Amino acid sequence: MNPDVTAPAADPRRVIIFDTTLRDGEQAPGATLNIEEKVEIARQLARLGVDVIEAGFAISSQGDFEAVQRIAREVQGPIIASLARVRKQDIDRAWEALKDNPRPRIHIFISASDIHLKHLFKMSREEALKQTRDMVSYARSLCQDVEFSAQDATRSELDFLCQMIEAAIEAGATTVNMPDTVGYTTPDEYEKLVLTVLSQVKNIRKAIISVHCHNDLGLAVSNSLRALKAGARQVECTINGIGERAGNAALEEIVMALHTRQDFFNLNTRVDTTQIHRTSRMVSTLTGIPVQPNKAVVGSNAFAHESGIHQDGMLKDRRTYEIMDAATVGAGETNLVLGKHSGRHAFRKKLEELGHPLEGEELNRTFFEFKQLCDKKKVVNDEDILSLILDQVQGEGTPTYRLEHFQVTTGDKVVPTATVKLVASDGTVLTQVATGDGPVDAVCKAIAQAAGYETTLAEFSVNAVSSGEDAMGEVTMKVIYKGRTVTGRGAATDIIAASCKAFLHAINKFANMGSFEEESGSDPYKRDDFGPLAGISRAYM
Ligand code: KIV
Ligand code: ZN
Repeated sequence: MNPDVTAPAADPRRVIIFDTTLRDGEQAPGATLNIEEKVEIARQLARLGVDVIEAGFAISSQGDFEAVQRIAREVQGPIIASLARVRKQDIDRAWEALKDNPRPRIHIFISASDIHLKHLFKMSREEALKQTRDMVSYARSLCQDVEFSAQDATRSELDFLCQMIEAAIEAGATTVNMPDTVGYTTPDEYEKLVLTVLSQVKNIRKAIISVHCHNDLGLAVSNSLRALKAGARQVECTINGIGERAGNAALEEIVMALHTRQDFFNLNTRVDTTQIHRTSRMVSTLTGIPVQPNKAVVGSNAFAHESGIHQDGMLKDRRTYEIMDAATVGAGETNLVLGKHSGRHAFRKKLEELGHPLEGEELNRTFFEFKQLCDKKKVVNDEDILSLILDQVQGEGTPTYRLEHFQVTTGDKVVPTATVKLVASDGTVLTQVATGDGPVDAVCKAIAQAAGYETTLAEFSVNAVSSGEDAMGEVTMKVIYKGRTVTGRGAATDIIAASCKAFLHAINKFANMGSFEEESGSDPYKRDDFGPLAGISRAYM
């Protein structure tokens, strides 16, 4: 058996952190990640020290399959998991994507609640038990590490839930998960559920109990922590708490609660807390989902003290008003790093230190951007460099269009007008002039027309990456073309330049997607051909 599957048996206080940012988190409304971005996030999750990365739902689309496969091939360290329904085709597809990783896990699920079985799966309890036994044992014939989830566990009849879990363990499940799929439970109730499973399921000692909470009532983290206190030893969570509807339990909150209140929980994780801030930032930037300022642990105000009495206390002794040190989560002062005179070698070393080693063309491009930034900005710190790196995480393949130059005229008495010059990868030069409601609108229109895309700009946001007058602005845009939405982003000291980069980033993603019709037609998840599970939608996960 995979040694880590039994880790809690070796250390009963150890909690397994199962990160599902790339599967459940990616189901968040508006989250759009391409394969390159998913691989980048998976690498960062490995640096963060999570135990399991749920990389996707391999059968749900060709894109998901490829993302799981690439992560399985390229990311070493954590267990890599793919979701699958209790169907042979799903399990085969998950295994196909995972099999090159030394530590694969197949995660299969079916619902345990009558409401789901009747309306969603159109199955009796007996059929559901049979499918559980058959498919868990089929998955075990392929992979030693199999997780079983009894979806909607918190609205299921307890005796039946225990029966289903027992059947799954008997068939070979090494982890059993009891999700609060609709975010309905309360801490007391969830604790009781874990204790009941522990006392009623005869073979429960052969598996690890996992919990998975959604945040519809804002209780996801509290419910998860209570379940851990009651004996669960795996917790499923996402960075920044992103996910379906109100999201999932936030990884950073769970980890920091266990870390800060060690005296109360007496549980530990393998997470390197100093990587939390950076991971949060990366997920927010790449998904285009901002983090609210007052968000626990990773919000921009999480360590800010505004009122006089608090500031006074902080100056006298930080512990008066601070239970965690910003540095523990990798936030706070960013080091002054490189400048105008720094060479390529020092820059490359810095990238390595930040956990993003780059080589070849990517290194050249980022170094060039860094030098340009040094001309505009006195102080270039880690945050600025991270921003440049995230800018380099393009869509798949090389960018089709490059911005040669732009010019904008604007003012309160003139119609904002932009001129852009793009160079296509085949060398064609495309020049376009367009007017708009404002300067950003004008440049976006000019780029869209030059490249020949009729797009809609659905969302636009700008954030300061660092502080000071010459701070870099990071622009994030949601752009729609033929019903597809992508996130474009760009950073620069000038907001219009950052907007140009962000919009072109989105256009390049569309350009690299190939034929749109072809892609949706070949996506089996979008076809309603799943036999007994037909009609199941992502909304139920
Ligand atoms: O919320 C849920 O029930 C899930 C399962 C598929 C694990 O995401
Ligand atoms: Zn879920």
